[in-house]
Amino acid sequence: MSKATTAVEVLAGDNSTAALDVERVRQDFPILRQMAYGQPLVYLDNAASAQKPRQVLDAMQEAYETYYSNVHRGVHHLSQLSTDAFEAARDKVARFINARSVDEIVFTRGGTESINLVAATYGRKFLTAGDEIVISHMEHHANIVPWQMLRDELGVVLKVAPIDDDGNLLLDEYEKLLSPRTRLVAMTHISNALGTVTPIRDIIRLAHERGAKVLVDGCQAAPHMILDVQELDADFYVFSGHKMYGPTGIGVLWGKEEILNDMPPYQTGGEMISVVTLEKTTFKKAPHRFEAGTPAIVEAIGLGAAVDYLTGLGLDNIHAHEDGLLAYATQRLGAVPGLVIHGRAKEKASIVSFLMEDIHAHDIGTIVDRAGVAVRVGHHCAQPVMERFGVAATARASFAVYNTRAEVDALAEALDKVRELFAR
Ligand code: ALA
Repeated sequence: MSKATTAVEVLAGDNSTAALDVERVRQDFPILRQMAYGQPLVYLDNAASAQKPRQVLDAMQEAYETYYSNVHRGVHHLSQLSTDAFEAARDKVARFINARSVDEIVFTRGGTESINLVAATYGRKFLTAGDEIVISHMEHHANIVPWQMLRDELGVVLKVAPIDDDGNLLLDEYEKLLSPRTRLVAMTHISNALGTVTPIRDIIRLAHERGAKVLVDGCQAAPHMILDVQELDADFYVFSGHKMYGPTGIGVLWGKEEILNDMPPYQTGGEMISVVTLEKTTFKKAPHRFEAGTPAIVEAIGLGAAVDYLTGLGLDNIHAHEDGLLAYATQRLGAVPGLVIHGRAKEKASIVSFLMEDIHAHDIGTIVDRAGVAVRVGHHCAQPVMERFGVAATARASFAVYNTRAEVDALAEALDKVRELFAR
C-alpha cells in the first residue's frame, strides 16, 4: 500500500483533526500481510466478516493458555478467573452500547440467533393471529425468515415497508403500514446489501407511538458507528461479534431488562435454571435465562477485546475514515465505464454494491480476485433487495477501518481489467 494513504489524507476535507493512523492500524491485522495470487491482499469483504486484530487473537490465546475453564460452575481458581473474564466481556459490551444494565446483554451465537431468539420467545408469547409485524424490503434473510416462520405458525401478518430506487426507506409508506394491530417492527440499521442507513430514530418513534415494540438489526452498524441503545430507545438491538473484528460464534442480543424478564426461555438446559425438580423448573432472570449450556466463553472474551480495540481507535474516528472511503469509492468506481452502483441512499455507510453492464457478478468477483481483491458477489442474503432492483446478484465492496484509498484504486484497476476482458 502507498505509504501516503494515512488517515490524515483520508480524512482531509471531512475532518481537520485526523486521529487515525491507518498504516498503524493495518499492522494490528496479521492477515493483511498475505498475498493473494502474488498480489497484496486487498480485503473488501468486511460486511460479510471483518478480519481480527492481534489484540483479539492474543486475548483468546491467553485465555486458552492461562486461565481457561468452564464458567459459573466451579469454585476452583481457573473457573473463577474464566467467569470473571467472561462477565467482564459482558460489561464491556454493555458500556459499548450504553446499556442501562449489564443484565441487558445476552450472549448468543450471532445476530441471526439473536433475532431467532426474539421471534421464538417474545413472538410466541406476545403475538397472536391478526397481529402485525413490519419489516423493510432491504432486510437480511435473518430478519425476514424468522418472522415468516412466526406468520405461518401463529397467523400474524407480515408487512413490508418499501424502498425507492436509490435504496432509501420510504418513511411515509412505512408509517402508513403501522396500525393498532402492529406489535413489532423489525428493521435494519444499515442494509448489508445497499449500505443504506435507515432513519432508525423515526422508525422507532413512529412504532412506539402505536405501542409496537422495535427490534433493530445492527450487525452492520456495530463496527461502524457509536451506538447508544438508551438514546435510540429501541426494545431489542442485535449484532454479531465477527463483523466487528471479534471472533465467530458470538453475538449479542440487547433488550430492555423488563421485556427480557417477561420472555420465556429460548433453549433450556444447564445454567439457565434457578431450581429443577422432577416436577417443574424455575428459571433465572436475564441474561442467564437465555444462555443455556456452556456458552462461547473464549469467543465472548475475544469480543470483549474487540470492543476494547474499537473503543481505543474511537468509533467517531472509524466512522469518519469509512465515510471518507465510501465517498472516494463512490466517485472512483462510479467513473469506471459501464459500472452501475445499486444503492445511492441519502445516508449510506461503507458499502458499495455494483454491476457492470451485462457481466455476471460472479465473473466480476472471480476476475478481481485474481488481482488480489476480495469482494462478495451474490445476493448477499438479501434476495428481496435483488428482486427490487431487478438483478440476480451484485458485486459488493465493503470497507473497514484498515482499508485505504489505494485499495479502492486497486479494485477500480481490477475492474478495468474485467471490462477489457469482456470487451474482447
Ligand atoms: N450478512 C453477511 C453479508 O452481508 C454475511 O455478507
